[in-house]
Amino acid sequence: MTEIHTPRLLLRRWHEIDDLHPLAEIHSQPEVMRFLGDGSVLDADATAGRIEEWEEEWDDEGFGVFAVELLGSGELAGAVGLTVPQGLPEYAHEVAVTWLLGRQFWGQGYASEAAQATLEYALQDRGLERIVALTKSADEASANVVRKLGMTFEKEITRPAAGPSDAEDTLRVHAIDLTEYEA
Ligand SMILES: CC(C)(COP(=O)(O)OP(=O)(O)OC[C@H]1O[C@@H](n2cnc3c(N)ncnc32)[C@H](O)[C@@H]1OP(=O)(O)O)[C@@H](O)C(=O)NCCC(=O)NCCS
Repeated sequence: MTEIHTPRLLLRRWHEIDDLHPLAEIHSQPEVMRFLGDGSVLDADATAGRIEEWEEEWDDEGFGVFAVELLGSGELAGAVGLTVPQGLPEYAHEVAVTWLLGRQFWGQGYASEAAQATLEYALQDRGLERIVALTKSADEASANVVRKLGMTFEKEITRPAAGPSDAEDTLRVHAIDLTEYEA
């Protein structure tokens, strides 16, 4: 069972039942979902599907997206971890770090703390060669996290529309490898 303790957080695998309601509450917040996928909020059914997909990725790949729990209160603050980017064939063999916190948990350094621990896990413990971050160009909060992680800007790419209600947009690609991480 993979678990990581940081000074303020527990990163752990998902609890299908107990995490459903708090994650669905986070997924119902438009400002949280604005820069994720097509920008839509997710309901409880879609949230259950997301937890299932993340757990499958853990089982299949040996890495995945962690549930982020506050050590003090045991509250679920969000989801931070590793995933193979979907819908971008050029990145089908890459591993991306991703993050999402409930609105009430922003501005306290939790995303950076969890993402830093995720990079250490990916590059040092799991021996992955490099980790990318794919962030929408208007997503300033994520740009701030990427900068604090010391990731290097590579290029901008176009994310194609995922369906009729979606529009294509620009993603910024940043990356880091073990040498850069340890520098
Ligand atoms: C992206 C996201 C996770 C960033 O959250 P965040 O709270 O802004 O990021 P951090 O946790 O790193 O916190 C940043 C701020 O917390 C404060 N902070 C940092 N460390 C702190 C500490 N130890 N104690 C208290 N506050 C602290 C600082 O004000 C810091 O900002 P600064 O570095 O500019 O000074 C959040 O905006 C989010 O969930 N967005 C929606 C999901 C999303 O779009 N994800 C993108 C997928 S790639």
